Amino acid sequence: MEEGSRERRTLRSLLVTGGAGFIGSNFIHYLFKQGDFKGKVVNVDKLTYAGNLENLEEIDKTYGQEGQKRYFFRQADVCDFKTIEEIFIQHDIDTVVHFAAESHVDRSIHGPTDFILTNIIGTFTLLEITRKHWIDKGRSGVLFHHISTDEVYGSLEKDDEYFYENTPYDPHSPYSASKASSDHLVNAYHHTYGLPITLSNCSNNYGPYQFPEKLIPLMILNAVDGKKLPIYGDGMNVRDWLYVEDHCAAIYTVLRYGRTGETYNIGGENEQPNINVVRKICETLEELYPIAANRFIQPSANIQNYNDLITFVKDRPGHDWRYAINCDKIKEELGWKPSISFEEGLKKTIQWYLDNRQWIDNVRSGEYKKWIEKNYGER
Ligand code: NAD
Ligand code: DAU
Repeated sequence: MEEGSRERRTLRSLLVTGGAGFIGSNFIHYLFKQGDFKGKVVNVDKLTYAGNLENLEEIDKTYGQEGQKRYFFRQADVCDFKTIEEIFIQHDIDTVVHFAAESHVDRSIHGPTDFILTNIIGTFTLLEITRKHWIDKGRSGVLFHHISTDEVYGSLEKDDEYFYENTPYDPHSPYSASKASSDHLVNAYHHTYGLPITLSNCSNNYGPYQFPEKLIPLMILNAVDGKKLPIYGDGMNVRDWLYVEDHCAAIYTVLRYGRTGETYNIGGENEQPNINVVRKICETLEELYPIAANRFIQPSANIQNYNDLITFVKDRPGHDWRYAINCDKIKEELGWKPSISFEEGLKKTIQWYLDNRQWIDNVRSGEYKKWIEKNYGER
């Protein structure tokens, strides 16, 4: 499509990177629920600690089998040019949706190397493959969509203006610096080589299949087990929370209608201090799984209320104070808006974790235990 064009794109053969992670797997579920999506999905994931094929069991059973074949999985590293190129050619990819990343700020503080490799070199590798197979061959009808974060814009004070698409980048953690770097590369390939790209920068997501090292699932699982709820600092840092399905809907909208070369901010219009989020989790949990009925908490533990588990721990180094994203552009231009309230989304999320104990037990592998020890043991 032409620069800035808003005609509807047809998505035929999608390379989804990081599709076994939290947002990627939700996106694949979302895509196959859309009646107007007739294409195929090639999910390429390295299956790091954060990648879990269990998230896609149903998709594989329904669309991954012979006769129905519209879903393919390949375990591969996005830094591996040769393998990704082979997949690219084999499936005649026309759309890349690039989720694959190291995504956890705390892990980037403990060990940034993988963040630099996957987030920067991995993105560069994919861009080089698209340059070779799309630009050099004059392919039309193609799109590279890059999934990014509001963290690239830095940190806001209480009364500061929102982040807009043209807010200057000011990343603070190794994670956000690596994502910022990848965003710059994607834009550079558009400006230098004319690669058709779109970019979206989203706020904090929550929902099913989120690895329980991030705030919301960590608090749900700890509370259910009667463990401490560790809040960094004074709990007043602010994040803007979006239910993951709303994020998936926004991405699908940008893929079909987004103007080539443009960035779209995506957010939940739902700013909350962390302490409020944790209190809401406790309140909702009491409604869905009252302490009195909780078989994981012994009466001898003497916990009357999930809130009693809240504990304040040492702050995250360089902890960004507040993120607040303005998403008027995607609302006005493309007609997307968040549709699930925080109360509703939190209820759905908590119920999902209560109903999927097996998934949780499988995820709580040795690697997860090691991380919890490392992150919270040293505080
Ligand atoms: P996640 O950590 O749950 O999943 C990342 C996936 O990428 C995993 O399946 C992992 O195995 C895979 N992966 C990692 N390194 C890889 C490599 N070298 N090659 C191939 N696959 C690799 O992350 P998420 O929360 O689903 O985030 C997905 C994307 O969305 C990321 O780019 C992240 O920066 C962005 N994002 C996340 C949020 C959020 O709140 N979670 C918000 C805004 C943007
Ligand atoms: O803003 C978008 C970003 O949101 C994404 O780009 C990242 O991939 C995603 O991980 C997320 O980053 P955060 O650092 O905001 O998410 P996290 O869930 O780790 O933390 C949310 C807030 O809660 C943050 O202020 C730190 C705090 N926190 C987190 C944990 C894990 C605690 O107080 N206690 C905790 O145990």
